[in-house]
Amino acid sequence: MKKDILQALQTVSPMQLEEHMLERPANSKLGDFALPCFPFAKTLRKSPVTIAEEIAAAVKHPLISKVEAVNGYVNLFVNRKAVADTLLPTVLEQCANYGSSNEGNGGVVTIDLSSPNIAKPFSMGHLRSTVIGNSIALLLEKNGYQPMKINHIGDWGTQFGKLLTAYRKWGIEEEVRQAPIETLLKLYIRFHEEAEADPSLNDEGRAAFKALEDGNSEALALWDWFKTESLKEFQRIYDLIGVTFDSYNGEAYYNDKMEPVVQELEDKGLLVESDGAMVVELEEGMPPCLIKKSDGATLYATRDLAAAIYRKNKYDFVKSIYVVGNEQSLHFTQVKQVLCKMGHDWASDIVHVPFGLILQDGKKMSTRKGKIVLLEEVLKEAIELAQKNIEEKNPTLAKKSEVAEAVGVGAILFSDLKQHRKHDIEFDLETMLQTEGETGPYVQYAHARANSILRKAKATNTFAIDEVNDHEWETIKQLEQFPQAVKRAAEELDPSVIAKYAIDLAQAFNSFYGNVQVLSDETNKHYRIALTECVVIVLKESLRLLGMKAPEEM
Ligand code: ARG
Repeated sequence: MKKDILQALQTVSPMQLEEHMLERPANSKLGDFALPCFPFAKTLRKSPVTIAEEIAAAVKHPLISKVEAVNGYVNLFVNRKAVADTLLPTVLEQCANYGSSNEGNGGVVTIDLSSPNIAKPFSMGHLRSTVIGNSIALLLEKNGYQPMKINHIGDWGTQFGKLLTAYRKWGIEEEVRQAPIETLLKLYIRFHEEAEADPSLNDEGRAAFKALEDGNSEALALWDWFKTESLKEFQRIYDLIGVTFDSYNGEAYYNDKMEPVVQELEDKGLLVESDGAMVVELEEGMPPCLIKKSDGATLYATRDLAAAIYRKNKYDFVKSIYVVGNEQSLHFTQVKQVLCKMGHDWASDIVHVPFGLILQDGKKMSTRKGKIVLLEEVLKEAIELAQKNIEEKNPTLAKKSEVAEAVGVGAILFSDLKQHRKHDIEFDLETMLQTEGETGPYVQYAHARANSILRKAKATNTFAIDEVNDHEWETIKQLEQFPQAVKRAAEELDPSVIAKYAIDLAQAFNSFYGNVQVLSDETNKHYRIALTECVVIVLKESLRLLGMKAPEEM
């Protein structure tokens, strides 16, 4: 609709117009669109008032029902019935496919997401990566790409040498079985404490990792067990938030794929020695990228180089995305630059998608010593709170625990996704679970409300639209904007576009619901039911794109 109006204006405008120039006034009384003419005054040597009057007098389009020139603005009113007449049948027919596009043409996009470290707690940062990465995958899929979600598990590196050493010295098998991550984390912390007094422990740790890298079977068996136990714990979280992966190839997977990369760096003359270690020097102002330590052990970056090349060969991606916190920006810039220096032109398709911290009372929620926030407990607490709210407000609800899970988990997801990912976000369960304000439950509740109308009356395909009132119109306008929101969210890899959109649509619908008697007016009943059904379709799809469920009753 915006494009049509813009085109109509362009044919009569003396200036070249761009999409952003056409505004949507917050108050619809001023029109559905407004074109401010102030920027043209200088070039045209006319007052904005005159320019606006001239454009207003000339513009014509079947979608425009009224034009006004007011104080240098061209205010345009859209033919509501014409828009509704095509939009509602489109949404009803396309259903969940409304807003989908083939923009991506089936191109593969690999998404590196979640990627927790075994034997360590699943952190708030890993939650953000999982939730944001999953939503980006859904958005890309809706735009015609083929996402590949890769969980690049942190299961390799010198720390595992330390962990093996600690376990051999102080570990108890039964304790690991009982509470794997907690026990392994304690062992790891103890290792660091004891190594302060006895630095030779560090050498033992290094040797243990070397043995692991060289394929020592006893070391490998132990490591494999730590990994299996850790993954079991992570899986419980993935099940709760409903996220799946296409690959769990973690850092260890690249153990035998690094040597060829190191060789290639060597052959291309990129590898230089620095204090006994091997590095690749980068552009001015960038620290060199460490490839091999002096003892020959590989590093995080070496594994990421091997992984990037492997992914290009295996998936032939059009884009390769890494959803990892802000603090790793330097690392990804380095990896990208090394690939570039190696002559891989696809290095430019690598995109680091950074995000901020989750804070509690303004401080980072930490997983350090003693202060572990166990994510699974946080999720369960959210579900319990949601359950409590249901018991208070709607005790006779069917499938209570299913709904509580959808709402509790959804509240956490939504509060994460509603702000731009680069911002730090404050974690407050009570607030995010409220059914008022910009929350997940608010959107879910609007969806359930709309469903309650449909339970009383089914939509029919035959409806005639007589006149569109202001409340209906606000809702229709929101519905019309869904495809653009989907497109922008995917282009900017930004789920907050959809979260904000969902709030706007829920608000518009709630005011429609509060002011219009949907079922009591016989003449308009069928059209209003159809409109309600469109809202259900689009709210549900918006929530799905955020990785959330949409209960039919709440
Ligand atoms: N395991 C890492 C961490 O917890 C994140 C890995 C991100 N992905 C990657 N390909 N480097 O910090």
